[in-house]
Parts: sequence; C-alpha cells; structure tokens
Amino acid sequence: MKELTGADTYKIEMKEPYSPVYMTCIDEAKKDKQKKARPELVSYPDSIDEYDTIVLGYPNYWGTFPMAVATFLERYDFTGKTILPFCTNEGSGMGSSESDIRKAARGATVGKGLAITGSQAADSKEAVKEWFVLNGLI
Ligand SMILES: Cc1cc2nc3c(=O)[nH]c(=O)nc-3n(C[C@H](O)[C@H](O)[C@H](O)COP(=O)(O)O)c2cc1C
Repeated sequence: MKELTGADTYKIEMKEPYSPVYMTCIDEAKKDKQKKARPELVSYPDSIDEYDTIVLGYPNYWGTFPMAVATFLERYDFTGKTILPFCTNEGSGMGSSESDIRKAARGATVGKGLAITGSQAADSKEAVKEWFVLNGLI
C-alpha cells in the first residue's frame, strides 16, 4: 500500500490483543462481536481531516471486520471522504463488512471493496495495483 501510493499509514491495533492461540482468538472475537464491543486501540490519529481517501484493510472475522475497526470508524467524521475497504479472508469474501462500514463511518462514501483470500495474500500485489488504478489512486 505504502509502496504503491506513498500514502501515510496507520495501524488499527488493540490495546489488549486477542490471544495468539487461534481457537481462543476465535472465541474472543466472537464474543466481542456478539456484545458489540469497541476495544480500546493502542493509538488514535489526532485527526483525519487531511485525507480524502482512506484505504481500510482488515481480516474477515465472523463475516465482517474485527470490532477494533468499529472503534476506529465510529471515532471520526468521514463526511466528504471515501473509504476503500480490502479484506483478507478464508472464503467469506467481504462478508457484510462493506455495509457495516457504511453504518459505522458516518458520512463516508464506501467504494467497491477488494477481497483477498489468505492463501493468495502474498501474491496479491497485482490485484491490489489494479484496484488502486481502478479507484484512481495510482
Ligand atoms: C476470529 C476469527 C474469525 C474469522 N472468521 C472468518 C470468517 O467469518 N470468514 C472467513 O472467510 N475467514 C474468517 N477468518 C479467517 C481470517 O479472515 C484470516 O485468518 C485472515 O484474513 C488472515 O489474516 P491474519 O493473518 O491477519 O489473521 C477468521 C479468523 C479469525 C481469527
């Protein structure tokens, strides 16, 4: 992303990360989704005013974005901004994440997302590049 566009990057990172044990992580993420948790993040950009387009990447957890992404999206006003979502997954594609972003990110225009299956993630550079071109980013 940075390599292709030179854009600033920011990592959505939970203050208390899920377990590194896969099955535990699955369970923790499921519970957070069920209770609509908004996990605290390590850091928050002071402002997103200077950005017109935000490329938002996340793994598909339980059919949508991880709840930490909701923490980020609900914090800012996206009026006049475009969010381009891309999502790694193991078969569910974007799931409901695009419509969930529309609900969480007030004011945002949400572009057509790019779904990347985990096994192809390392070889996805061309697909990402095409998607950037399609959206006028490069
Ligand atoms: C908590 C959890 C829930 C997941 N739910 C889904 C799902 O509903 N659909 C899907 O295709 N993949 C699902 N996956 C697989 C992830 O999307 C996949 O591991 C991820 O995209 C790879 O990125 P990572 O290396 O950051 O985990 C899930 C993974 C985890 C850990």
